Amino acid sequence: AVVAGPPADLSGLRVVVTAGGTREPIDPVRFIGNRSSGKQGIAVALAAADRGAEVALIAAHVDEGVLAAASAHPRVGVTRAGTAAELAEAVGERAASADVVVMAAAVADYRVAEVSDAKLSKDAADGTRLTLDLVENDDILARLVRERPEGQTVVGFAAETPVDGETLLDRGRRKAARKGADVLAVNRVGWSEGFESDGNEVVLLAAAGDVIATAAGSKREVADALWDAVLGIRSEAV
Ligand code: CTP
Ligand code: CA
Repeated sequence: AVVAGPPADLSGLRVVVTAGGTREPIDPVRFIGNRSSGKQGIAVALAAADRGAEVALIAAHVDEGVLAAASAHPRVGVTRAGTAAELAEAVGERAASADVVVMAAAVADYRVAEVSDAKLSKDAADGTRLTLDLVENDDILARLVRERPEGQTVVGFAAETPVDGETLLDRGRRKAARKGADVLAVNRVGWSEGFESDGNEVVLLAAAGDVIATAAGSKREVADALWDAVLGIRSEAV
């Protein structure tokens, strides 16, 4: 019997996907991190590979069990990156030859200005407060958009916690305009939404702010909807 697998509609495409949260060191034993599990990004990578793409998955700090399953795929190559700077370097090396780049990683916006070689000690502190001096990291997505080669599709993610009746879509549209990515996948996050969960709900926005599609379901279903949107955009561009 012939069992129908996923469509091979991404075959021949070279894809770079980043996933997970970066960690910015404070000293040899401490870091500033975030709650990203990398599950959505890894699902995006695996969906692409299942649909025939060659995938370079750049994984920051992720759920290791979920990553192991993806790295077993013959068309997925995994590179690890710890900090935002390492992630930027790993993406930079691979982006020039990619057809599609998906920035699903939760990249730290700031890093510690001066990382201490010695573990910070309370003895050296004065008083009951500590101030960390932070400096802004380069915006990897913005740079990808600026430097993208002809024909490349760039996808970003935006995690938003809308406040004061401000809609998710308003924030997403402003970010889409600012970032200039071909697709921005906007999802709501909060104390109890988004991160370790196995489901997701996203709105896919074009750079001009129009809604390409909405998708809800498992992170794999959301990933497949994202690839459908990317294929749609790429066929329009031809
Ligand atoms: N991103 C990036 N490099 C950074 C920060 C973010 O490439 N230094 C990417 C993320 O991978 C994501 C997109 O930009 O694809 C949006 O990230 P987000 O944190 O939602 O947006 P920011 O522009 O950082 O704005 P803010 O955190 O202030 O909402
Ligand atoms: Ca950010």
